[in-house]
Amino acid sequence: MLKRIEHLGIAVSDFESTEMVFESLLGAKAYKTEIVESEGVETMFFKIGESKIELLRPTNSESPIAKFLEKQKGGIHHIAFETDDIDAELARLKEEGYELIHQTPKGGADNKRIAFLHPKSTARVLVELCQDAK
Ligand code: CO
Repeated sequence: MLKRIEHLGIAVSDFESTEMVFESLLGAKAYKTEIVESEGVETMFFKIGESKIELLRPTNSESPIAKFLEKQKGGIHHIAFETDDIDAELARLKEEGYELIHQTPKGGADNKRIAFLHPKSTARVLVELCQDAK
């Protein structure tokens, strides 16, 4: 099952100005930045209670985030739900008719196994499932 909102992914064109916004909004500094080469993104993470904010900026023009920013200037890109068993959840959701972008989990930022569901089948919201990688 899906347990909680692990993070919200927010697309940004530059980290500098957005980092200041979230630093003052949340009263805390980002705790890490990490490049995920396979996704063409650099990420920056903030903690807020039990959840996180993940800022995403493109590292190349083919990045899904670059494409998102072309259509929208920025804003919420995806919502990530935590699960203890991502393989079982993907199987369950596929069975229930959801369209999977990733048929099997892949390595994501912040030491996670992740997979995305297609927004077509999730009310136009890009949904990420994630599980702590052991
Ligand atoms: Co994410």
